[in-house]
Amino acid sequence: MCGIVGYLGNKNSKEILLGGLKELEYRGYDSAGIAVLQEGEFNSFKATGKLINLEEKTKDFVTDKFSIGIGHTRWATHGKPTELNAHPHIGDASYVVHNGIIENYAALKKDLIAEGVTFLSQTDTEVIVHQFEKNLKNTTSTFEAFKRTIDELEGAYAILLVTKGEKETIFFAKNGSPMLIGINAENEKYFASSDTPLIGHCTDVNYFEDCDYGYVTPDTFTIFNKDGKEKKPHFTKLLTNKLSAQKDGYRFFMEKEIYEQVDAIANTLLGRLDDNEVLFDELDSTLFEGINEIKLCACGTSYHSALTATYLFERHAKMKTSIEVASEFRYRNPIMHKDMLFIVISQSGETADTLETLKMAKEAGLKTLVICNVDNSSMVRLADSCILTRAGVEKGVASTKAFATQVTIFWMLSLYLAQKKKSLSPQEITKEIALLREVPASVKVSNDMHEYIKRLSKRYLHGHGFFFIGRDVFYPLALEGALKLKEISYLHAEGYPSGEMKHGPIALADPELFTIALLPQHLLYDKTKSNVEELSARDSTICAISSIDFDKADDFIAIPTCKDYMLEFFEMMVALQLLSLEISVRLGNDVDMPRNLAKSVTVE
Ligand code: F6R
Repeated sequence: MCGIVGYLGNKNSKEILLGGLKELEYRGYDSAGIAVLQEGEFNSFKATGKLINLEEKTKDFVTDKFSIGIGHTRWATHGKPTELNAHPHIGDASYVVHNGIIENYAALKKDLIAEGVTFLSQTDTEVIVHQFEKNLKNTTSTFEAFKRTIDELEGAYAILLVTKGEKETIFFAKNGSPMLIGINAENEKYFASSDTPLIGHCTDVNYFEDCDYGYVTPDTFTIFNKDGKEKKPHFTKLLTNKLSAQKDGYRFFMEKEIYEQVDAIANTLLGRLDDNEVLFDELDSTLFEGINEIKLCACGTSYHSALTATYLFERHAKMKTSIEVASEFRYRNPIMHKDMLFIVISQSGETADTLETLKMAKEAGLKTLVICNVDNSSMVRLADSCILTRAGVEKGVASTKAFATQVTIFWMLSLYLAQKKKSLSPQEITKEIALLREVPASVKVSNDMHEYIKRLSKRYLHGHGFFFIGRDVFYPLALEGALKLKEISYLHAEGYPSGEMKHGPIALADPELFTIALLPQHLLYDKTKSNVEELSARDSTICAISSIDFDKADDFIAIPTCKDYMLEFFEMMVALQLLSLEISVRLGNDVDMPRNLAKSVTVE
């Protein structure tokens, strides 16, 4: 995810900015840049790839006087990871860095272009600096121009802006994306998007609240709230432990990543939904020409997300779709036809088994597509086409936001294909798109639910096994719920199609067999309910997850009433992730680094 730093003071600002960006490396990035205003002159540097490339570019640049500077690490979401798309973005005499999403950027950009402004990048961020300079022409106050600009932006942002006319001022604004300012006895000012760059430099920090904006100079720090009223900063002591600072106050990276799913999915959707059309600009419009069948291949969690795609592709796009575990596919001399589109799914893009199947498909002359979270990974480089999931770096070994964004992509891709094949009516597509827009809200963790699951978890620390059961897309979700639990709790768990329980596993039913039942209101509710009743009648302990109260359950996790089964899917996904997390915490396990597991499995 992107990172921001800013500095105002007499020290070596280049080193401070680069050092700050280094502290944000753990968040992941694919390009970086800085801009420094010293003695009235701007110097700006950008580089793709690792920070070492930026360090190399700045090696002859000396900052030994008072200066102001801003810096950024970018994780490509809108536009490729190129130098032109890297921040800071330049206007005529100003620079800006930004985290978040400017939702109305397309409309602002259109107007600015009509007024003669030239854009250098494909980013949403660049509109900020041009809009500011446009406003500056119509007012004598730089701050007023900045304020007007902020008022005109819709979406989420943390912004730092510097401009030649104000040699000692950094302008800031925050809404929805985190940012803080740090101070010390030497009267320096530091900005960052998380604590870590400030540790060792500052003693006290003020975390900005949503809609805060203002400016700093060497002697002033002025903040306004959303009503335009000046407010007092609220300084607190800065943490000193870097690892816990990286977790932004969460106990584990996995927990942080569960909470981050709202933003991750918003990024996944960004620029890909029109009111009545799904857009994948990154795909060649002929990708599906001559294709009569889709083959999906992946491992682990990615396999589970792909399994949901088999339901969605056939339901929405009427496209024959099959799926294989990559390690199985490799050695069974599979039949591959030229009319088959081969899709691999991988968070890392490096999983050895999945990579190998991609090579096999390429050798067989198939068209290939990868759905991946890491740009420039081996699979992205190898496949003919690529869709990035934009989940940001996932540190917890147990995958959460990668799964959520993969399923989102599959839902969108099934509609994209349905548009091409006209297998859904325009009205149906429009309805699905409206539902997709609700996904970020459906993965927002409610405090009540988290607290409830925390309490509930103490009843599920033993037993001789867990069955997670569901039907249709809730079957892959059940598999994923079981995988999460076994990975981090070391308890035995299996995912099963609910209708299959009576064909064998029901023999295990007793009070020490825990059944986690996924009961969506909008998909096969009665069918699944009778399967759960069969287990309940044999005294299995049942924990039902549903929006409809279920009196045969021993425990019940209530999700809100949703408009559609796919929104129920995402609501339940969060409940399952939290349940595994809290069970693992109670068992005293290392949630982020479970035993015997690695984040990226690059061996066979
Ligand atoms: C489970 C998990 C693994 C991965 C699997 C494939 O939480 O993370 O099951 O999903 O190793 O990894 P990728 O998606 O990187 O190919």
